[in-house]
Amino acid sequence: METMTRESRLKFVEGIRVIHPAFMQAMQLIEDVHQESSYSTDPHSVLVYGESGSGKTTIYETYIAKHNKVVSTTVDGMQATNRVILYASIPSPASNVSVSEKLLSELGDPYPSRGTAPQKYNRLVKLIEANRVELIMLDEFQHFVDRDKEKVIYKVSDWFKSLINQTKVPVVLFGLKDSELVLDYNPQLSRRFPTRYQVKPFGYVSSSEVETFRRVLHEIDKQLMEVFDMQSMLADEEFADRMYYATRGVIDSIMKLVRKAAKYAIDREAERVEIEDFAKAFELFTHVSSGKAVNPFLIEEFTLSKYPITTAK
Ligand SMILES: Nc1ncnc2c1ncn2[C@@H]1O[C@H](COP(=O)(O)OP(=O)(O)OP(=O)(O)O)[C@@H](O)[C@H]1O
Ligand SMILES: [Mg+2]
Repeated sequence: METMTRESRLKFVEGIRVIHPAFMQAMQLIEDVHQESSYSTDPHSVLVYGESGSGKTTIYETYIAKHNKVVSTTVDGMQATNRVILYASIPSPASNVSVSEKLLSELGDPYPSRGTAPQKYNRLVKLIEANRVELIMLDEFQHFVDRDKEKVIYKVSDWFKSLINQTKVPVVLFGLKDSELVLDYNPQLSRRFPTRYQVKPFGYVSSSEVETFRRVLHEIDKQLMEVFDMQSMLADEEFADRMYYATRGVIDSIMKLVRKAAKYAIDREAERVEIEDFAKAFELFTHVSSGKAVNPFLIEEFTLSKYPITTAK
């Protein structure tokens, strides 16, 4: 790997993305509602939910990177833009007014904060139509339920229901499970979200789960080969047991360990990532190691039958 600088190798490791089955399933669901929007007058919207670190924002960003286009056309001498996806991360604290303003600004409204709440709403509907938005994607949706619960939920669910009804643009929301409180507050809004997709940590009980987990590790190893001379053998049976014990299948923990261990190996100018690198990374990330009886990367002949996973995290 003489040809790559340390920085470019580290950058590559940061950018590793694993296309795992749940990731593909979520992408497919979003693609389906997106396509439906071109012909349906009652489009279905989707909620993608899961615990922190389960990979929701990664799905959101990957979909936008793959499908978003901003096309400028001239119709009758007038400049018009066609924005395929309108997207934003909901700030905290959030209200229907602050989100209206954020979306207005995304759509190029010169004075997003001008006017009353209904005027902002009307401008937003007009701009969504003028831009021919096909899909709305919002991340961190649970920020709507963080404070002053009842009032905010009522206003937001009503605002949302109207926006979807009037524009007929499907919405894909990403957030913690709490997000459902807003959707289920209003039966009409709830009906528009028949699909609620949970992004879960990888399992490791059935043989197909074990196979999927090892495939994910293999995929990571393959990508690491771009910056190392040798395979790190992450998909080995014993190593997979160690990784599962260390991470409980949470992608955030897996990638934290992989990225840090790879950094140690790059700094050592090693040919591959070694188990010692993972042991060090595991010690460093206390939120990954906390609640675990041992450091699985320091134990010789590690198996999950010897060190079973307890429910306490
Ligand atoms: N498919 C993937 N491939 C590689 N890394 C991933 C993948 N999914 C998630 N990650 C990594 O895991 C970490 C957490 O992912 P992400 O931010 O998407 O989680 P989240 O569900 O949005 O969490 P939060 O609820 O806290 O916002 C990030 O560092 C991200 O790079
Ligand atoms: Mg996120």
